[in-house]
Amino acid sequence: MTDVLAPDAPRLARAAELLSKGELVSFPTETVYGLGGDARNSHAVAAIYAAKGRPSFNPLIAHLPDLAAAEEIAVFDDRARTIAARFWPGPLTLVLPLRRDAGISDLVTAGLDTIAIRVPAHPVAQALLHAFGGPVAAPSANPSGKVSPTTACHVIQGLSGRIAAVVDGGSCRVGVESTILSLNPPMLLRPGGLTAEALEEALGQPLPTGGDANKPNAPGQMTSHYAPGAPVRLMATAREPGEVWIGFGPDCAGADLNFSPAGDTTEAAAHLFSALRAADRIAIETGARRIAVAPVPETGLGRAINDRLRRAAAPRP
Ligand code: TXA
Ligand code: MG
Repeated sequence: MTDVLAPDAPRLARAAELLSKGELVSFPTETVYGLGGDARNSHAVAAIYAAKGRPSFNPLIAHLPDLAAAEEIAVFDDRARTIAARFWPGPLTLVLPLRRDAGISDLVTAGLDTIAIRVPAHPVAQALLHAFGGPVAAPSANPSGKVSPTTACHVIQGLSGRIAAVVDGGSCRVGVESTILSLNPPMLLRPGGLTAEALEEALGQPLPTGGDANKPNAPGQMTSHYAPGAPVRLMATAREPGEVWIGFGPDCAGADLNFSPAGDTTEAAAHLFSALRAADRIAIETGARRIAVAPVPETGLGRAINDRLRRAAAPRP
């Protein structure tokens, strides 16, 4: 049985106690729901990989309440500290050299000498991290390769019975996962909830894209990922027979759903994963065989949206 916990102080204390016992607890962040376990407890971390069906060579993000706590597990130079001070708490993950003496399980980093760290802004995530008082390893709380969860209900649909509890904090505000940045030299490993434009402005230089879709330890490593049940066709400016059509912007009259009727990429990101889930349901109900998605511009959060859509549409294994 997976408990659904209200985000009040007694239930958050209960969630923190479950984490201390090595149990898994899903919790809301401003990006997506995370599947949390004690990052210092290898049994808990192994259970995260098992619950998701995730390959154990794909490392996890450690979540901390603030920069001071993050500095205890990773090495920050001046640039890393400046970026962290500017964007944390928020939808940014930094990949930094791991402090070996921090007691982080090797399963979190999949044996790498770097660690991905994030300080989430969601008040429930903040409260849980403070109550627990240690690093929480948390991938998105969905079965590996499937659509990420932006509500507690999505978490239950994917992982019920496989985790101890989920803290229900409502819908996630941002809707796409955090941006992943490595430093020395700066490289964008995954587009996400903080725009590349904002990072480039803060760094004072263009940000090259890194990571290799075929290399197992690169972020979002799987070609097919974030995938709904039905196959996905991109750049669809109209519905073909047998399709559920998701529009973007005002020119998609007749679409079954619309990420953002106003054509706003921030709004579209917030609706992305729930729209893919809804399209799947419509396809099942109507016998449609495919989901068609309208073009989304590559600006602002459009870059993260298109990254997720391309993976949703990629050939399945
Ligand atoms: O918004 C988010 O980032 C959410 C919430 C829960 O915080 N978490 C999330 O985790 O998206 P996950 O596991 O779905 O994605 C983590 C990504 C993976 O693609 C992984 O390859 C990459 O982070 N990663 C982790 N450690 C890394 C490292 N040391 N070097 C490079 N990439 C790393
Ligand atoms: Mg994920």
